[in-house]
Amino acid sequence: MDHFNYIDGVLHAEDVPLPAIAEAVGTPFYCYSTATLQRHARVFRDAVAGTPDPLVAFAVKANPNIAVLAVLAREGLGADVVSGGELHRALMAGIPPSRIVFSGVGKTDDELIAALDAGIYQINVEGEPELDRLSEIATRRGQQAPVALRANPDVDAGTIAKISTGKAENKFGIPWDRIPGLYARATALPGIRPVGIAAHIGSQLRDLAPLETAWTRLGELAGDLRANGLPVSRIDLGGGLGIPYDPDLPAPPPPSAYGALAERVIAGWPDGGRGMSVIFEPGRLIAGNAGILVSTVITIKDGGQRRFVVLDAAMNDLIRPTLYEAWHDILAVAPRPGRETVTVVGPVCETGDQFAEDRGVTPMQAGDLVALMTAGAYGATMASTYNSRSLIPEVLVDGGRFAIVRERQTIDMMLKQEHLPPWMESKA
Ligand code: LLP
Repeated sequence: MDHFNYIDGVLHAEDVPLPAIAEAVGTPFYCYSTATLQRHARVFRDAVAGTPDPLVAFAVKANPNIAVLAVLAREGLGADVVSGGELHRALMAGIPPSRIVFSGVGKTDDELIAALDAGIYQINVEGEPELDRLSEIATRRGQQAPVALRANPDVDAGTIAKISTGKAENKFGIPWDRIPGLYARATALPGIRPVGIAAHIGSQLRDLAPLETAWTRLGELAGDLRANGLPVSRIDLGGGLGIPYDPDLPAPPPPSAYGALAERVIAGWPDGGRGMSVIFEPGRLIAGNAGILVSTVITIKDGGQRRFVVLDAAMNDLIRPTLYEAWHDILAVAPRPGRETVTVVGPVCETGDQFAEDRGVTPMQAGDLVALMTAGAYGATMASTYNSRSLIPEVLVDGGRFAIVRERQTIDMMLKQEHLPPWMESKA
């Protein structure tokens, strides 16, 4: 559910008509709804409330805008970060270190130091070399690193290959059979305080069965570790629950079903989850439907075989359709009567710069505003400046008010960071 609705034939973000925002900030822009973010945070928290001592750590990679993070911080969410930059943002947004988990397949020394200095809840270690490096760094600095080992459960998440992370062939996690030995080693390492194990199998999951398998295995593994006298008090169950993009497809399972599954699986763990705290890392589920990309139709181009609607937004603003052939609903902000089939593209010089092919939409004309829906996760954050197109603004709506929470980049801002080498500067 989201708070983007038509009122008197005009698409609104909460109580604000989108044309009013377009008038104020220009297009294209990302627009986020506070009420939708809050709702998703609450729905998810309620859904997992029956699991042992749950921490809901928002996967910052989905939407790192600090205003978005601040909304979620006020809802009591933690953060799952994967870089020093994300850690910095989470802290700046007011997320307490005690609710921050650091995942990520390759953490630099500087990032590990920043995590230790901030005193975060947990560092999910991806392998033996990282564990040794962390031990060395923490010991040198007189610190103790709370560590979970990220295991690779070798489960096929049934999602697209580019965002599947839990199969043995993927780069993520530590091979399952190496965990017991490494966990035992970790308990003996100086500067390391092993607290648990973690897994994340993939994103946009439409089926709960792979999660059931992975979570069951995690519980068994934790049971084996405990049986060997090793201290295990946390299990990080990852993120990945999918959201509806295409209204014509069956929706993925709701958070309530996901939470019920977690409760059921945990009840079946060797010790029924006693003495355990669990962590969830939802990203898309919290932010996806809370954001849209608003764009203006530049022109209609009747090609030899297709009618193209050319937008002022492009693949550099929202890469998901190009990269994953992802489906985003495309709505006219003020729909005209009727229906036509068009191919919606951006102005970038690549055939792949396409948002939808042969899509049924209401008739569109140059100057019309359109909204690409479900763009709040992995939208603005994956943008680039390809074709020297500036990064576009992000706007946060709250009831009847709105504010620019990231300003539009200008060509001057872009060029400020570029320089001729000294030997090419003119001597004039
Ligand atoms: N935890 C870890 C360790 C992750 O790697 C991810 C996502 C998440 C949590 C959050 O997953 P979510 O709940 O959002 O599914 N750019 C792609 C998605 C990449 C996801 C990467 N990892 C897309 O646009 O679909």
